[in-house]
Amino acid sequence: MKLFSSVNDVADINALVKEALKLKQNPYANQDLGKNKTLALIFLNPSLRTRMSTQKAALNLGMNVMVLNIDKEGWALELRDGVIMDGSTVEHIREAAGVMGQYADIIGVRSFPGLRNREEDYSEMIFNKFVAFCKVPVVSLESATRHPLQSLADLITIEELKTTARPKVVLTWAPHIKPLPQAVPNSFAEWMCKADVDFTIAQPKGYELCADFTQGANITYDQDEALTGADFIYVKNWSAYEPYGNILGKNEEWMLTNEKLKITNDAKVMHCLPVRRNLELSDEILDGPNSVVVHEAGNRVWAAQAVLKQMLESL
Ligand code: CP
Repeated sequence: MKLFSSVNDVADINALVKEALKLKQNPYANQDLGKNKTLALIFLNPSLRTRMSTQKAALNLGMNVMVLNIDKEGWALELRDGVIMDGSTVEHIREAAGVMGQYADIIGVRSFPGLRNREEDYSEMIFNKFVAFCKVPVVSLESATRHPLQSLADLITIEELKTTARPKVVLTWAPHIKPLPQAVPNSFAEWMCKADVDFTIAQPKGYELCADFTQGANITYDQDEALTGADFIYVKNWSAYEPYGNILGKNEEWMLTNEKLKITNDAKVMHCLPVRRNLELSDEILDGPNSVVVHEAGNRVWAAQAVLKQMLESL
């Protein structure tokens, strides 16, 4: 594997999940694979889980790891071509990414959307420039439109905890005070549409995701209808795709509570984290027996390790 930016880069998602679960049983079996290989993790935005789990995964494989918070510690990057750089930017992404590729065998990049220009965000302008100029394999640590390491960890979690062969999985919109990217729900939808699950998306009117990511999903504006009989509930806020990046209303009634869980099949509750308590998800859910959010975050290690292992094998 030379690129991990979406589910479309994976030849067989079931095999990748199996590989991740095998690594979970025996994390240090491939220590020689990463010997004398270096992973560079480049962050243009904050992170806790992605940063630590991917580092841990690389260490388990015997790799060396470098982390650069380029937004705070690097030179201000110019992304546009053909401009006279007489403003605030100091280094062009062409040189910056090219140089990083000299120091690392694999590069991970996190680059959130600006949420102002949909065309620019959905073209994955920044992520794709890193891929084009660094000349080494690249793994997405969350891009403008997708978060594939999160989605793989989510699928691993569902595979581990499911009690029926084809569980009902519901992605439900949740309230928030800030406009958030569509990357996590886009990505989750894209992976669930390829997985062997019965997949439903519930959202208030106006929060429809880009249809490219939801082909095959059941889509409803009725949260109760969606939650009925659910085995897994994936809670997440996202801003509108149209008008792009907007919050359309408070919709506080969409926050998941124990009362709402009563109509589910004792559903396990998932969230990618970080989560705002009592806004997106209630204390009673997060502190209750149905929440699997910390277990899910733990699986980020095995998702990253499975992907890095495939990349190392292709070097
Ligand atoms: N879920 C997730 O990606 O968490 P971080 O933003 O903390 O990495």
